Amino acid sequence: MRTAAVIPAAGRGVRLGPGAPKALRALGGTPMLVHAVRAMAASRAVSLVVVVAPADDEAGVRALLDEFPLAGDRTEVLVVPGGATRQESVSRGLRALPGDVGVVLVHDAARPLVPVDTVDAVVTAVREGSPAVVPALPLADTVKRVEPREDGPEPVVATPERALLRAVQTPQGFDRRTLDEAHRAFEDAPGEGATDDAGMVERLGVRVVVVPGHEEAFKVTRPLDLVLAEAVIARRRA
Ligand code: CTP
Ligand code: MG
Repeated sequence: MRTAAVIPAAGRGVRLGPGAPKALRALGGTPMLVHAVRAMAASRAVSLVVVVAPADDEAGVRALLDEFPLAGDRTEVLVVPGGATRQESVSRGLRALPGDVGVVLVHDAARPLVPVDTVDAVVTAVREGSPAVVPALPLADTVKRVEPREDGPEPVVATPERALLRAVQTPQGFDRRTLDEAHRAFEDAPGEGATDDAGMVERLGVRVVVVPGHEEAFKVTRPLDLVLAEAVIARRRA
């Protein structure tokens, strides 16, 4: 059975500020999406990458991937149009997978610099029998649960024990049938949104496990993250 990676890249990047869709913005002269595709293709396990493009810019994404080909790599790359939410975009990517794919990674285009060792650790854990695997790191900040308010200071409700918390990254890895089932269940009963795929699998009652994440797998979300990403790229080139 093959291992494939689905890369949701259809977001606008509102928190990054005005400009092109986030995945198409350049980092070190190369579009963020291209970094993400290379990061997945760098794993020898991954033989197919499905890029989920902004629905109104599918052709632009194809052109970009032609402009930055995977040198010397035989990984197949498909492009499909995305949806209004991340979950919908991932669902569309899953529907494009051929029948011989048994393990699926879901990786945010917004995490362009994830090291290949992290990708491989996730794939290995799935192949060894875990149906759902997430890379994650301990938190540096203390986290408070609050009562959200717009009109004044927010009351603190609780302080979860930091040692028990993890900040979750991607690629998240799944047994393909488990992830398909989670997405089908979500389509049948949308309700509250899930911010990651493992959360949907948890709702099925399937056990999700954590492997060590990596600092360089951080998500480019706000302008300061671009500064960090450029610095990481410069350090790698030095
Ligand atoms: N994503 C997607 N389809 C959507 C929304 C998000 O494929 N409708 C993807 C983004 O392209 C990104 C990943 O999901 O690679 C994680 O989302 P996030 O970091 O929130 O990116 P954006 O939604 O683009 O950013 P923002 O929320 O600031 O607009
Ligand atoms: Mg978003």
